[in-house]
Amino acid sequence: MKTFVSGSYPTVRMRRNRADDWSRRLVREVRLSADDLIWPLFVVDGKGVSEPIASMPGVARLSVDRAVEAVAAARDLGIPCVALFPYTDPAVKDEQGTEAVNGDNLVCQATRAIKREVPDIGVLTDVALDPYTSHGHDGLMRGAEIVNDETVEVLVTQALVQAAAGCDIIAPSDMMDGRVGAIRAALDEGGFAHVRIMSYAAKYASAFYGPFRDAIGTRKALIGDKRTYQMDPGNTDEALREVALDLQEGADMVMVKPGMPYLDVCRRVKETFAVPTYAYQVSGEYAMLAGAIGNGWLERERTILESLTAFRRAGCDGILTYFAIEAAQLLRKG
Ligand code: PBG
Repeated sequence: MKTFVSGSYPTVRMRRNRADDWSRRLVREVRLSADDLIWPLFVVDGKGVSEPIASMPGVARLSVDRAVEAVAAARDLGIPCVALFPYTDPAVKDEQGTEAVNGDNLVCQATRAIKREVPDIGVLTDVALDPYTSHGHDGLMRGAEIVNDETVEVLVTQALVQAAAGCDIIAPSDMMDGRVGAIRAALDEGGFAHVRIMSYAAKYASAFYGPFRDAIGTRKALIGDKRTYQMDPGNTDEALREVALDLQEGADMVMVKPGMPYLDVCRRVKETFAVPTYAYQVSGEYAMLAGAIGNGWLERERTILESLTAFRRAGCDGILTYFAIEAAQLLRKG
């Protein structure tokens, strides 16, 4: 039998702090709170409508009346902000995405209804043309090209229309060059100096957006891909340049997207700029987790909370996530 001499034991025992719940809580470095969550939701025409989205199990498109109820529930759970995305009737789509600048489009209707009924929650609206264009691109097309400067002019009008409807945060997700500066200037001139900008600063040309495109009805419409304006998944220095530019142009907050496969980018952005930094746990990430959870391959509650806590650890101040409601419920339960 082997006998141990006391001096041969480790002096430093990492497990001591892990031994009890109280000491694990005491040494925990980051935590997740409902305050960190932004809930994206999909709105659709009609009344009393809740339409499940097959590739996002547990997520549904809601008509404005239902969205208002859901947002009130989010507010009651302490969620500070919601993000709105429209499913646009294909009949009103055209090559220019004209519906984007219609002050009575679905997003504007939903924004007005939410700000009227649930004024104490933030409303973020996406600026980009893809929900409205027949070709599914975020910008205007000339031949096969997505033209930058002409697109920015339309995006500016779209942002003004959303601001007039009462949104609190404009979130340009289009990745055109110069759009943040142009939108900031137009908002300031238009009497919307109080409206914040959260730029999708480092947005990658990702396969993980597929289910979102089902949700807003653009997957089949999309011609080609978005690689001439969204970033190449191999790059991180470029993400820092994108963020630097958006901040110079007046962004109040920046976002990295997708989330989980890009936590290294989140960390670099936060350490380099020390500004409010968000990540979007996108539809494909949701689908992966919800799919595995639904099959019983992953444990529901722990998986959701761990996946979101990872963003905080990577330096993010908050997360856009389709799990927001459930996560807030779990956090409340403790
Ligand atoms: C549109 C937009 C996209 C997402 C948010 N805004 C899709 C895209 O760029 O094709 C994706 C969100 C998600 O996948 O959850 N500009």
